[in-house]
Amino acid sequence: MTFDPKFDRSVKIAPSILSADFANFGAEIEAVEAQGADWIHVDVMDGHFVPNITFGATTCAAIRPHIKTVMDVHLMVAPVDPYIDAFAEAGADFITAHVEAGPHIHRTLQAIRGAGAKAGVALNPGTPADSITELLDLVDLVCVMTVNPGFGGQAFIDMSNKVRRLREMIGDRPIHIEIDGGMAPATAPLMVEAGADVLVAGSAVFKGGSVQDPAPYGENIRAIKAACAG
Ligand code: DX5
Ligand code: ZN
Repeated sequence: MTFDPKFDRSVKIAPSILSADFANFGAEIEAVEAQGADWIHVDVMDGHFVPNITFGATTCAAIRPHIKTVMDVHLMVAPVDPYIDAFAEAGADFITAHVEAGPHIHRTLQAIRGAGAKAGVALNPGTPADSITELLDLVDLVCVMTVNPGFGGQAFIDMSNKVRRLREMIGDRPIHIEIDGGMAPATAPLMVEAGADVLVAGSAVFKGGSVQDPAPYGENIRAIKAACAG
C-alpha cells in the first residue's frame, strides 16, 4: 500500500470513447474534457475475450497527447501479458486487466505496476468480489462491470451488493472503485451509494452532442453528477 496524495473518493466521470466518433478521437477527447470529463476511458477489445474489436496500443499512443486528464485503459484482451508494455509505453495512466482473462492475474498486475502504470482489475458480472481478496495490495483500481463487456449502450445490471462488499474489503486502501456499463442519472446513484467513485459512461455522455456541438456532453456529465449528489 502506497500513500498517494492525489487519491480521492470524489465522484469522477470517465467518458468512454467507445461512444465517440472513431474518425475523430483527438477532437472528441478535447471536447469532452472541456465539458468536464474527469478521466478518459479507453476500451480495448480483441474479438476473442469479448465479441468485438476496437483498437490497440498504436491508437492509444496517438490519442495520448490529446488527453490532459487521466488515461484509463480497459483491456478486454486475452492473453493480456504480452501487450502490457506496449500500453504502458503508449502512456496509459491506469491499465486494467480482467480477472477472467487468464490464470495468472497476480503476475499480470505485477507486470502493470512494473511497467510504471497504475494497476486495475476488472470483474465481469458473473465474477464475485471475493475472487480478488488476495490481490488488494497489488491494485489501484477495481472495475466492476455492470454489463457483460463488448459493447456500449447495453442495459445496466445491478451489482450493488458486489460494490458494497468490495468497499468493505478495500477499507482505507487507496483503491478506486470504478463502475463500467449502463451508467446514467437513473443508475449511477445506486453505485455511488454502494461505494463507487469512478463512473464510466459512454452512450449517456456522448448522446446528443458532437465536436461541432459539444454542450450536450457537459449537460450529460453534470446530469449524472447531480443525480449522485442528490
Ligand atoms: C463495455 C465497455 C464500456 C462501455 C460502456 O464493454 O467496457 O466501457 O463503453 O458504455 P455505456 O456507458 O454505453 O454502457
Ligand atoms: Zn470499459
